[in-house]
Formats: sequence, structure tokens, C-alpha cells
Amino acid sequence: MEVIITSEESIGDLVADDIAALLARKPDAVLGLATGSSPLRIYDALAARVAAGALSFSQARGFTLDEYVGLSSGHPCSYRTVIDADLVSRVDFADGAVRAPDGTAGDLAMEAGSYDRAIAEAGGVDLQILGIGTDGHIAFNEPGSSLASRTRVKTLTEQTRRDNARFFGGDVDAVPRHCLTQGLGTIMEARHIVLVATGKGKAEAVHHLVEGAVSALWPATILQHHPHVTVLVDEAAASRLQLAGYYRYAYANRSAVS
Ligand code: F6R
Repeated sequence: MEVIITSEESIGDLVADDIAALLARKPDAVLGLATGSSPLRIYDALAARVAAGALSFSQARGFTLDEYVGLSSGHPCSYRTVIDADLVSRVDFADGAVRAPDGTAGDLAMEAGSYDRAIAEAGGVDLQILGIGTDGHIAFNEPGSSLASRTRVKTLTEQTRRDNARFFGGDVDAVPRHCLTQGLGTIMEARHIVLVATGKGKAEAVHHLVEGAVSALWPATILQHHPHVTVLVDEAAASRLQLAGYYRYAYANRSAVS
């Protein structure tokens, strides 16, 4: 796991550099797309590069991580709507190239299975963007999730519903109680995982993710078992890291060995 402590402003460009390098060597790469606040600077950086003619997603494909159960794709808070607004409508993906789980499917278990199969049939995710919840969730794998889980229905914690109420006009009761989410086992199959976190509210979760015991209590800790994870955090999100000095030193010296 590589930990990069940097300014919030530079995170977007650093991840956009990784995605541009991936698309240069594999134009039909499969991207795993997070929603929420954390990836917004990445999506801004990608949109700017496409507008400048420096980057194209025309052959790429994408899969989002999760969806609220019961919100139709036209609902302003559905993650399908959110990814379309934040990224898809601003770059040049082909029609239908970005798929999201359908939280209104009549048979959610069948939808979950077909989502996992679609990712596998696309060849798997080359680069997965992740945020992290204040309770340590990735996608919507809340504490207690099986570390080997596949895409399925989960119940959101009260903390996550409170955290996300800001997207629902501050009304926690408007935040659905259930979601369809890629499992931790599904996410772990991505070839490169890039997790971004900013702000003091994420500091405890980031500490557990990088330095804690691997445990279902902090689901993101499963990433310690992945061979290629990059964690980009600002100073506030890094403020609980015990080995911050070492991570800075390793990053400053990484060109000497790579
Ligand atoms: C979103 C997702 C979630 C968020 C996490 C952090 O698709 O899967 O895991 O990444 O809740 O949310 P933000 O970035 O809004 O703080």
C-alpha cells in the first residue's frame, strides 16, 4: 500500500495522471467509479483534460460502486444521476459504457449477480477509484461486512445515513436505509485501487485502513491484502497516521527505485 500525503488540490491531478497513463496503454480500460464528494476533484481534472483534447474515454468502460435501493435512475440523489452529472456528461464515454447497479430492480439479488458477471465479462476493473466512509466503509460495505462479500443488498448504518443527509437537503429521513453495493471481494479483484480521503472527519478511518488490524469492524482494512493500492490523503485526513513521517519519506524517495 502506497500512502501519499499531499494537498487536497493536487489529489485530482495525481489520480488523473494515473488514469491518463492507463488509457494511453489500454484505451479500452475498465474504470471503477466512486460517487460522493471524494472523487470530485479527480472528475474535474479528467473533464478538463478531455475538454483540452488531451484525453479520451471513447473506448473506455466504467462501473459504479453502489446505488440506493428504491431511488430511480432519474432521482437527483441516485448514484446513477450523480455519476452522469459529475463525470459521464463531461467526458466522451460511448453511450451505455458506464453501468450502475439498478436499485429499483424487482429482484435485487438477481441484479447483484448480473452486476458482478458484467464486471467479469468486461475483463475486470483496471483502476478502481474509492472514497472511504467515516465508519470505514468502502462502497457501502458497512462494518460487519464479510471481507469476501460479492455485490448484494446492505443496510446502511445510521452514521452513514447522517453523513449522506447533506446530499438529501439535510433530511436524514430521506436517505434510504438500503443499498445495492459491490462487495469487498468484488472490489478486491480490481487490478489497481486508488483511495482518496480528505478532511479531519476521515482521519480515524484512514488510520485503521492503513495501520489497523484487518477486521470486519473497519471494512476498508481488507485493502491491506491487495497487492496494488494507492491511498491519497490530505494533511487533515493523515493526521492520525502513526507512520506519516515514513510515508512522506518513502514518497519523496520513490523515484530512486521505480
Ligand atoms: C460512493 C461510495 C462511498 C463513498 C464514501 C465517502 O460511491 O461508495 O463509499 O465513497 O461514503 O463519501 P464522500 O466521498 O462523500 O465522503
